[in-house]
Amino acid sequence: MSSESVPSPRPATKSVIPVAGMGTRFLPATKAVPKELLPVVDRPALQYIVEEAARAGVGEVLMVTGRNKGSIEDHFDRTPELETALEAKGDQGRLDAVHESTDVAQVFFVRQGEAKGLGHAVLQAEAFVGDEPFAVLLGDDIIDARDHLLEQMLAVQAEHGGAVIALLDVGADNISKYGAVAVEEAKVSGDAAGDEVFRVTGMVEKPPADEAPSTLAIIGRYVLPPEVFPAIRDTPPGRGGEIQLTDALLKLVEDGMPVHGVVFSGRRYDTGDKLDYLKAVVRLAVEREDLGPAFGPWLRDFVADLPAEGASPA
Ligand code: UTP
Repeated sequence: MSSESVPSPRPATKSVIPVAGMGTRFLPATKAVPKELLPVVDRPALQYIVEEAARAGVGEVLMVTGRNKGSIEDHFDRTPELETALEAKGDQGRLDAVHESTDVAQVFFVRQGEAKGLGHAVLQAEAFVGDEPFAVLLGDDIIDARDHLLEQMLAVQAEHGGAVIALLDVGADNISKYGAVAVEEAKVSGDAAGDEVFRVTGMVEKPPADEAPSTLAIIGRYVLPPEVFPAIRDTPPGRGGEIQLTDALLKLVEDGMPVHGVVFSGRRYDTGDKLDYLKAVVRLAVEREDLGPAFGPWLRDFVADLPAEGASPA
């Protein structure tokens, strides 16, 4: 394959959302409830992500699910009994809320069988995707609706072809929790105030901090070419015995395919992480028109009464 850019003949229209992971960081809540359904204010984290896919024009969605994830299918299905009850009460507001999750996108499901890693989860989408580029959105990673990361990534893929990954500068202290990338020094486009685009030259999953090629971490958005499927099939289990998507993407880089990284400068929440989950709930609740006016003043008082760092609570 040539290292020249290969503009994609067709724009992506489909997206894949892997939701088959075990959510061990959020136990015991995730024993029976998938972490992707934990509520962020009043809707499951996953609903924000499906809404983002629909907004970006990739609203034909395949969810890769697993055992104990049946409630995810239920959430995106109709609920005739509930709808009839709300209709009888004339409760249009709640009826609209119930319809939101079914109307937002066209959602399909496939099962992963065994949670053998993100690469393996994406491989289950091969028949659905066919021979087109497609988006991957991780089911526990919320990008603020005001930040248009996925749209920008789709535009970069349409211009350069190949694969596009979302990057975040997480600093040296955090990089060992992520896939880390090496990038070319000269940026392809963008300015320091917005999201910059770099050509990716290497990547490694969860490296020790002193071996990380940079502090740029791969976060939960990808736009991938169909060539990623044979690359995943050729990828042996890597870190943690899982088939890593990062390893398959490295193969594409080594084959000379253009792989670009968009360095995200907006707001992102990893709702599979307890601390980030709390931040997402508080921030999104404060900004809500219906809750913010009551929650904001309460939160200000609460914070003002917090004991100083190191002091024990009253
Ligand atoms: P994570 O690594 O965050 O998911 O994968 P996890 O394994 O559930 O998390 P912890 O560390 O045990 O808490 C990112 C996304 O990929 C999906 C997850 O559901 C999550 O949305 N995933 C991961 C799969 O679909 N299949 C897998 O085999 C692994």
